[in-house]
Amino acid sequence: MHTDWWTDAAVYQIYPRSFADSNGDGIGDLRGITSRVPYLAALGVNAVWLSPFYPSALADGGYDVDDYRAVDPRLGTLDDFDEMVWTLHAAHIKLIIDIVPNHSSNRHRWFTEALGSSKGSPARERYIFRDGTGPDGSQPPSDWQSIFGGSAWTRVPDGQWYLHMFAPEQPDLNWDNPEVRDDFLTTLRFWSDRAVDGFRVDVAHGLAKDLTEPFLPAAHLPDLAEADGAHPLWDRDEVHDIYTEWRNVFDEYDPPRMAVAEACVHPTRRIRYARADGLGQAFNFDLLEAAWSAEEFRVRINAHLVEAETSAASATWVLSNHDVVRHATRYGLPGTEQTPREVAMAWLLSNGTHPRLDPALGLRRAKAATLLMLALPGSAYLYQGEELGLHEVGDLPDNVLQDPEFHRSNGTRKGRDGCRVPIPWSDHEPSFGFSEETPHLPQPAWFATYAVQAEERDPDSTLELYRRALALRTKLSSHGFTWADEDRPDVLHFIRPGGWHCVANFSPEPVSLPRGTVLVASSPPVDDQLPPETTAWILTSHESGGGGDVRG
Ligand code: GLC
Ligand code: CA
Repeated sequence: MHTDWWTDAAVYQIYPRSFADSNGDGIGDLRGITSRVPYLAALGVNAVWLSPFYPSALADGGYDVDDYRAVDPRLGTLDDFDEMVWTLHAAHIKLIIDIVPNHSSNRHRWFTEALGSSKGSPARERYIFRDGTGPDGSQPPSDWQSIFGGSAWTRVPDGQWYLHMFAPEQPDLNWDNPEVRDDFLTTLRFWSDRAVDGFRVDVAHGLAKDLTEPFLPAAHLPDLAEADGAHPLWDRDEVHDIYTEWRNVFDEYDPPRMAVAEACVHPTRRIRYARADGLGQAFNFDLLEAAWSAEEFRVRINAHLVEAETSAASATWVLSNHDVVRHATRYGLPGTEQTPREVAMAWLLSNGTHPRLDPALGLRRAKAATLLMLALPGSAYLYQGEELGLHEVGDLPDNVLQDPEFHRSNGTRKGRDGCRVPIPWSDHEPSFGFSEETPHLPQPAWFATYAVQAEERDPDSTLELYRRALALRTKLSSHGFTWADEDRPDVLHFIRPGGWHCVANFSPEPVSLPRGTVLVASSPPVDDQLPPETTAWILTSHESGGGGDVRG
């Protein structure tokens, strides 16, 4: 049976400015990535997803794109890009790039032209300009808030306002304008022609908007938790017409280019983004939002597998990315009435002091959760540094913070810089081998323990665990999944075809393992007992076959 590579890939996300710096300016770059391809190959990932590398003023970490068909000169050139693709492909690693269609940056030539043109001009029609309210138009067209805080409208010198659902430096594009649509098709072809294998679509649920006036006041906007598609700004049904056009472009290529949607929508509407005649795949952030609890994992895994089966889409799993507190840290914070995300945000705001982090416990659980995720059918998305067991850097001083979320929220949210600190490669070189210069975000002294070099010397390191698991996953991966009977509610046990068992012990007690060979474990089993907060993969000899019901 032929399966497309991206339906069960392990994809490694690179945040380029924080991965590896080749020319000593403190900023990671494309040649840095190329130089680390052997590392990625040894890690055993099938693909890389590259966060934005386009020219940008970095008002939002590169998600404010000045030019969609160029490389930020600080990160390299198009030739460097080609060399990176070539080197990745030579190592059998695919490349997915980030595409940011909801908004450009305010330095994009279209926005400059819009500012220099008059009200009602075609140049303004590429964005969302409106007159203000109040007697002199000095009030914004609506009271909508941007995701990062503050008004979603900013006024320009001639008195009009433009919409930005994120930072003011990220004006929303007008997707009703055919010129905008065509230009993105050109961009998709531009990178596909350069042998890019796929696209990660930023804010995929945002492009289509119903901007019929009068605008609903913020308090009357429908709840996104209602899955009816009635929100004027998010997850509108019309957005899929755009992706049908994109699919036609992807299918011009052999093999067709893939895409994965970042769609923060009601789970029942996620499958629309993953349709075969649309983007094909969508991130599922349900595990990322889950607390360290067997029950929460079970429910979310079940729901997503059912969703994937009924929609014929592939499952996707994510525990960390560039927008959230790293999972090693989340799992080391105490459970409270609040959601894990809220607890982590509060911890960040206290500069990593409250509540108290148990780093060893967090890492132990993170390794168990990762091993569980890597045993699930579908694609797994990994975030740079998690393979080292990196924790969030919780105590970055305010004066180094780059994230607009911190500044736009007036410091009531710390933002996402703590998971974007440059990677430690070495335990003895300056800036841990990331750069010869001061890195653009400061690295804490404890990064030394997590450096690639240090972990390569230690057979029990997190890095070695990821390597073993990823190598096994490639060999074992296939279709089929069955829950095994377990009397203990705090143990998750499932079976994949070929007698591959995954047992995850969420409890504080050891539990017995099924008979068989332990292929890999997140902490070593003792006397056939799986230690607390540990996952193991076991190969049993008696079972085989196509993932049918293998219960006794
Ligand atoms: C996505 C990105 C995030 C960015 C936002 C605006 O959510 O993952 O990093 O800030 O879009 O582009
Ligand atoms: Ca550099």
